[in-house]
Amino acid sequence: MTAQLIDGTTLSKQLRAEVAQRASTLRARGITPGLAVIQVGENPASQVYVRSKVKACEDNGLHSVLEHYPVTLSEAELLARIDALNKDPAIHGILVQLPLPPHINAQEVIQAISPAKDVDGFHVTNAGALMVGQPGFWPCTPYGCMKMLESIGYNLRGKHAVVIGRSNIVGKPMALMLLQKNATVTICHSATQDLKAMTLQADVIIAAVGKQKVLTADMVKPGAVVIDVGMNRNDEGKLCGDVDFDGVRQVAGYITPVPGGVGPMTITMLLFNTLEAAERSSAC
Ligand code: GUN
Repeated sequence: MTAQLIDGTTLSKQLRAEVAQRASTLRARGITPGLAVIQVGENPASQVYVRSKVKACEDNGLHSVLEHYPVTLSEAELLARIDALNKDPAIHGILVQLPLPPHINAQEVIQAISPAKDVDGFHVTNAGALMVGQPGFWPCTPYGCMKMLESIGYNLRGKHAVVIGRSNIVGKPMALMLLQKNATVTICHSATQDLKAMTLQADVIIAAVGKQKVLTADMVKPGAVVIDVGMNRNDEGKLCGDVDFDGVRQVAGYITPVPGGVGPMTITMLLFNTLEAAERSSAC
């Protein structure tokens, strides 16, 4: 069997066209959805990500501001910026790119963002809303994975989903989203004793560890859906995911590529959340 590709680039194009349409409707009412992106320090990967986020806003009719601060910025100064953006009516979404330098407490910073502008979905108010199934902002990467499953018409009810990785950004919210769709969910992590025994039972596998070849062909049940959240560099410096793509595609039913899979979907869902924040603010 050769797996069908779930193409995140094509799906993103369709979804971004919808974003652009809704943004244009809002602009006609005098509201331009606005996103503020804050980067502190010179992390090269962060630099690439924030530029892509800002460009995606510009390409789809959203306003965006990139605030890039030197690594010497203090936590108090960053909190003061967030306070100002919380009060700025032209800004509907605030994103502080992680990781932050070690002298800044990332949790303090995230919790300072107004939950109504927390388009990353990292604030405890939004995390709690996801936990109890209330409306809020969902973290963009797992939200994008759910959209990819939706795009193939996959019904999660009663299916066994195995999430590899337990981060606050991907693994934990991913598990809650799958659970909300009535999947039976297993979360595996670095202390899991027999990962292969778990993944072999899975109808859906989400790999979100940040290490190449965490999932190989012998660990996958024939026909399973495999979603690769990883973004790593292999020995030749080429971008690769957590999944051994060439091997696993021979066994899986569906698979997402890296690049061109989850990556573009994360940014697309950020646009969705920002638009949603602007729509909600205009409704009150
Ligand atoms: N760093 C890596 N992924 C993310 C993300 O989704 N949001 C933010 N703010 N920082 C990140």
